Amino acid sequence: MLDGRTKEFLQEALDGDRLITFLVGAGTSADSGIPTFRGKEGFWTIGSKNATPQSMGTKKMFDVNADEVWRWFLYRISICEQAKPNLGHIALSSIEKRLGARFALISQNVDGLHFRPESLINNLYLIHGDLRYMRCADECSKALYAIPLFFREQIRSRETPLTFDEKQKLICPKCGEMTRPHVLWFDEYYNEKYYHLDTTLRIAKSTGLMIVVGTSGATNLPQRLVERTLSRNGKVIDVNPETNIISDKLRGLVHGHYLQGKSTEALQALEEYLGERG
Ligand code: APR
Repeated sequence: MLDGRTKEFLQEALDGDRLITFLVGAGTSADSGIPTFRGKEGFWTIGSKNATPQSMGTKKMFDVNADEVWRWFLYRISICEQAKPNLGHIALSSIEKRLGARFALISQNVDGLHFRPESLINNLYLIHGDLRYMRCADECSKALYAIPLFFREQIRSRETPLTFDEKQKLICPKCGEMTRPHVLWFDEYYNEKYYHLDTTLRIAKSTGLMIVVGTSGATNLPQRLVERTLSRNGKVIDVNPETNIISDKLRGLVHGHYLQGKSTEALQALEEYLGERG
């Protein structure tokens, strides 16, 4: 499935000494049964007429209706918790083992699938947070608290209202205020503290080849990471079944390439190619 240009870019990167960085989005978890955000099956829009991700996943909405926002998130958390890593996640983990210190993974996915034993990634930067954690909505500290097991053991119906007991489990242990999911909301800005803004921009500067997989490229930091890589003479391949903002940006660039394909197949093929080379 890898075309000549992809192999050429890979070869050059392997011959060099800069980072080979993967930047992934919801498309890489599609084969694990986790709907993408902007796809028609994105689960923020199922069964609800008005609640788009852009309206529900905001600090503004949380401030007026924390219970409702938590209810959506607890449903998503339970789906992610029950999902299994797919062969693409597993291939990424093998690629890291092959590339060692030259590998970095920047992931927009909050589903926790890069942390399972079979798909574990060490050099990982989560730029949109991590649904396995909550933190104080009042920012009383930087601490992250694991989402109580109670919410993760089985898939929670989206219709079930939060009970008093459940709400008690979502209280900040330090100050007694409500917690919030540890994710970047649509009306918030990236920062280093929670979302590795400066670190990932630095990684992009040291990247010889960035392989973007399964993202629409609709958010700001991924676009900046691609631009930063290109501006430092790095190359970028965008893997996606459909053209998107990143592939549009790369079109016609000597250092850019669009590889049409699905994440799982492409990551497995990349892993295989690197294996043949090693
Ligand atoms: N393989 C590869 N790509 C796929 C697959 C697949 N099997 N299925 C879908 N895709 C692609 C789609 O073509 C689309 O370009 O994955 C992309 C998913 O796009 P989004 O739903 O916008 O997800 P993502 O790019 O990760 O969203 C970025 O936006 O909503 C916020 O914080 C949220 O992290 C999320 C961010």
